[in-house]
Amino acid sequence: MTRKIEVNNAYYEKEVQHLGEIIRRGGLVAFPTETVYGLGGNALDGEAAKKIYAAKGRPSDNPLIVHVAESKQVKNYVKRISPLEEKLMELFWPGPLTIVFPKKENIPYETSGHLETVAIRCPAHPATRALIQAAGVPIAGPSANISTRPSPTTAEAVMHDMDGKIDAVIDGGPCLIGLESTIVAVENGKIIIYRPGGITKEMLSDIAPTEIDKALITPTDEHPKAPGMKYRHYAPSAPLTVYVGDKNQVEKTISAFSKKKDKKYGYFVSKEMAELLPKEETIFIWGEREDKKALAHNLFQGLLFFNSHPVDEIIGEGTDATGIGLAVMNRLTKASGFHVVELNK
Ligand code: TXA
Ligand code: MG
Repeated sequence: MTRKIEVNNAYYEKEVQHLGEIIRRGGLVAFPTETVYGLGGNALDGEAAKKIYAAKGRPSDNPLIVHVAESKQVKNYVKRISPLEEKLMELFWPGPLTIVFPKKENIPYETSGHLETVAIRCPAHPATRALIQAAGVPIAGPSANISTRPSPTTAEAVMHDMDGKIDAVIDGGPCLIGLESTIVAVENGKIIIYRPGGITKEMLSDIAPTEIDKALITPTDEHPKAPGMKYRHYAPSAPLTVYVGDKNQVEKTISAFSKKKDKKYGYFVSKEMAELLPKEETIFIWGEREDKKALAHNLFQGLLFFNSHPVDEIIGEGTDATGIGLAVMNRLTKASGFHVVELNK
């Protein structure tokens, strides 16, 4: 049995001591963050990491992000911290930025996916920072979904995938950002983005020269630097094709599907596009086209919508890959298995 614990009650302070003890002793507790829900276990315990991989059905060469409650805890787990890394922590923590460091021996290889590095972040959600403090150990936490499925942004979505497999879920309400953290490493004074997220390339470029891991832009033989980026991910319950490019062409192409009767289509589209479709169609209204924060926030919820509204094929609308749009299109491209169609005037 997996217990669901509300944050908004007077008992949480007491409860969190007990949850921290569950983690310290090798149990698993899912926790809310500003990005997505995490599946937490003791990051210093290789056996706990193995339990996390088992609950997710995740390959064990895909390392886990380690969560700390304060930046001053980082030095206990990493060999060195450069001035630029210090600055990134100061500016963006607590928040949706993960930094890859050379690891100390106390981080077991099960947690680091057999790498000599460890990815660390300090989440913003106070309930989760309280959990880390109560545990007295850093918490390893991948997204709390079954491997290959969309990341959960509500406690209900966590329960859907994890009920019966973990000890408890802390319900802190819907996640504010709704997309996983930006992962970076500092290499020769440059910031390299391993995974785009809520902290955008534009924001990082203000601090130091910033590049995106080449393996994420052009599909080459190069291995992505975040091992997880190579796996199939975020798959909704039906095949998805995403249309991007010229607005009029996108609208025309998507509208045309509603006239076809060969199978049941579902639509994952902006509010503006939804208004052009017949009301009786199965439509997830993603958000207003120009409101990229809303598009990020609603993305995984939209992919999960088709679990309860089954269709044969999902027709999706994309967004442009600037600002947080880069992270949104990275997730949507993977969710579609790279079925992104660019339409020109
Ligand atoms: O927002 C987030 O980051 C969420 C919340 C729960 O904090 N966590 C999350 O974890 O997205 P997960 O396990 O779903 O994704 C972790 C990603 C994977 O792509 C993994 O390969 C990469 O981080 N990663 C972890 N450690 C790494 C390392 N040492 N070097 C390179 N990539 C690493
Ligand atoms: Mg994940």
